[in-house]
Amino acid sequence: MPMHEANRMLRLPPYLFTVVDSLKREVRESGKEVIDFSMGNPDFDPPPHVVTEMRRALKIKHIHRYSKPDEEVEVNFRRAIGKWYQGRFGIDFDPDKEILPLIGSKEGVAHLSLAFLNNDDLALVPSPAYPVHFNGVIMAGGILYNIPLKEENGYLPDLQHIPRETTRLSKIMFLSYPHNPTAAVCDIEFFNKVVHWAKDKNMIVAHDLAYSDIVFGDKRAPSILEVKGAKKFCVEFHTLSKSYSMPGWRVGFAVGNKEILASLNKTKSYVDFGLFRAVQMAATAALTGPQGYVKKITKIYKKRVDYFVDALNKMGWAVRKPEATFYVWAKIPEVYHAHSSMDFTELLLRETGVAVSPGTGFGECGEGYVRFALVRSEPEMERALKRIKGFLEMKV
Ligand SMILES: Cc1ncc(COP(=O)(O)O)c(C=O)c1O
Repeated sequence: MPMHEANRMLRLPPYLFTVVDSLKREVRESGKEVIDFSMGNPDFDPPPHVVTEMRRALKIKHIHRYSKPDEEVEVNFRRAIGKWYQGRFGIDFDPDKEILPLIGSKEGVAHLSLAFLNNDDLALVPSPAYPVHFNGVIMAGGILYNIPLKEENGYLPDLQHIPRETTRLSKIMFLSYPHNPTAAVCDIEFFNKVVHWAKDKNMIVAHDLAYSDIVFGDKRAPSILEVKGAKKFCVEFHTLSKSYSMPGWRVGFAVGNKEILASLNKTKSYVDFGLFRAVQMAATAALTGPQGYVKKITKIYKKRVDYFVDALNKMGWAVRKPEATFYVWAKIPEVYHAHSSMDFTELLLRETGVAVSPGTGFGECGEGYVRFALVRSEPEMERALKRIKGFLEMKV
């Protein structure tokens, strides 16, 4: 019997990360070591006290049952999120209505589109962007309006350039700073402008603050909810995947407007049963325990970024040093400028075993770039850099 995938799935762009995955497999099978910078998958262990809490939680009677929002573990987790937010950004939330735990922020972002977009409703999504920001829209049946992010504008969207009619028909706008894949940052002034621009447009503004902590030097990643009035139409997504190196644990949360979160919660309630309680207990320990770990890994990421970017620049591959995240957004070297980002990714991988993400995996405006995720040790980075140097010299 022929299986016909739903049209909404057929409308999705090819998931280039799956393509890169199968290329990596092929290269590995050919006997070459693959040094993988393609996925933002932190390589550190989570904080030890979080793992200890998880071990303790696993022994508790009834821990393995379904999660229920009114029970102690769940209430404690929501309160911990509230306290963390107050400590971090000085904002207060009602823990029962303005805070919603998620099975990772990716899940929440995808379900937000499902909760709000009718077939053919418009959503504004920057390009490039973290893929679920646009794929979630397409899967929900919505229509994507790409806001191009340009290097000369610091990868911030130019909202004034969005046609008035498009804005009128748009129900959601996604933003995310510090930004994946470009590593761009924004200040609170930018969020002031966004909130002022969006306030009379009947539009949800969803801000993904996954990299709130991976910020270098004196920079600070603000929350959009610090802006007065933002709670009327904004929600913000967070994850423990990056700050606490817990990507496989699948834990994140959304905060902000209670009506938006109620609809998101309603959508989720038809699909999932919430987070494993032991994970909620461990996540509570992460948010309420000592935060030295976060500072420590941020320092290591900064060291990696400095080392890697300096080395690329020295060998003639000019790239900008990021002020946040562990990503390096690199324009394809001049000598390879005729290659698409996917072709360049494939060539680099086949020739050197170094795996990166093609810029177009993050949307059409990612063409011309590749992204390195510096989630590899220094010796691995050193080996990769040596191979990249040889690869670039080959062409001269
Ligand atoms: C901007 C952004 N949001 C969300 C996520 C996913 O987070 P989670 O592991 O909580 O689903 C990522 C992961 O790379 C990301 O870069």
